[in-house]
Amino acid sequence: MSDLDLRGQRVLIREDLNVPIDDHGRITSTQRLDAALPTIAAARDAGAKVMVMSHLGRPKEGQFDEASSLAPVAAWLGDKLGKPVRLVRDYLDGVDVADGEVVVLENCRMNVGEGKDDEALAKKYAALCDIFVMDAFGTAHRAQASTHGVIRFAPVAAAGPLLCAELDALGKALENPAHPLLAIVAGSKVSTKLTLLDNLIGKVDQLIVGGGIANTFIAALGYSVGNSLVEPDLIDAAKKVLADAKRRGAEVPLPVDVVVAPEFSANATATVKLVDQVRDGEMILDIGPETAKQYAALIAKAGTVVWNGPVGVFEFDAFGKGTETLARAIAASKAFSIAGGGDTLAAVDKYGIADEVSYISTGGGAFLEFLEGKELPAVAALKARAGQ
Ligand code: 3PG
Repeated sequence: MSDLDLRGQRVLIREDLNVPIDDHGRITSTQRLDAALPTIAAARDAGAKVMVMSHLGRPKEGQFDEASSLAPVAAWLGDKLGKPVRLVRDYLDGVDVADGEVVVLENCRMNVGEGKDDEALAKKYAALCDIFVMDAFGTAHRAQASTHGVIRFAPVAAAGPLLCAELDALGKALENPAHPLLAIVAGSKVSTKLTLLDNLIGKVDQLIVGGGIANTFIAALGYSVGNSLVEPDLIDAAKKVLADAKRRGAEVPLPVDVVVAPEFSANATATVKLVDQVRDGEMILDIGPETAKQYAALIAKAGTVVWNGPVGVFEFDAFGKGTETLARAIAASKAFSIAGGGDTLAAVDKYGIADEVSYISTGGGAFLEFLEGKELPAVAALKARAGQ
């Protein structure tokens, strides 16, 4: 986008302004808005007629749904841009926008055909503009009319600064990393992250697994995990990841100690145990202090750290020490660090390390698909359009 002359042009910018909104219509996290704002302000400052397009939630197509309206987002943008921002409900047949004005187009997922990447709808979007800017990294993994189809039909299609920054940061972390490259992949289930683990194992020097994923790996080593969250069907898959890692020279350090509790609750009594001493009736809810120390030492030596997922139930303070120790180690390290995913960003916020992480991704699903090694459909469409 920054290479184009936007003055007087009708510029349609697809952002991911899918932010959490509470029952009172208040935005509870502005991370995605903060990240998109510079793109929108730059287009406005360049004298473009700016139309901002986004989805919010997953409303039913073909009907208006107040709860999924972008009204709070338009109000937020108006506040930040110092001038009210109109929310346009009916826009598919054209919108009047003045030079240097910013308007928000109502939730594109209310349009029939958006989800299925309908060609007629994509052409309508394309007809709204002289230049289409794809800046929604968080939705770049969806092949929908506003993220994919429109790229084929817009008079000009360009990548926006936020999308470029996200791809640069992820490329720096995974395609051209400073070594050692260490990834932290945690979460409740191996099944949802198996492709990601398989892809990363061919790239990383160290892979730290956490949460329910680590439990399945611990079980794969033959230890009892008591009542912990575990996927017995994936124990063989975990063994295969460990064997692949060994073959490729990647380390997968597993916990030497863990924090267990008799139940999943904020007030449950937390006990530190060696990993081979977990008994029936106990649940592993965090890594232990010795493990956290060992992992922090690896982070201190890393050249690049990719972080997706907290290693314990950090929402409960008694089981958050492992995640906190790793977060502080990332904050203190000189490595290029990138963090992404909803729970990870909540941990980044909780421990106040946002300024110390080199790059915080706005992508949830898109971040994971990139880590899985998949090409994001919107990025593929931009490349095809550019003849790459
Ligand atoms: C996200 O929040 O991950 C993106 O906005 C994509 O939303 P979706 O999963 O509803 O497509």
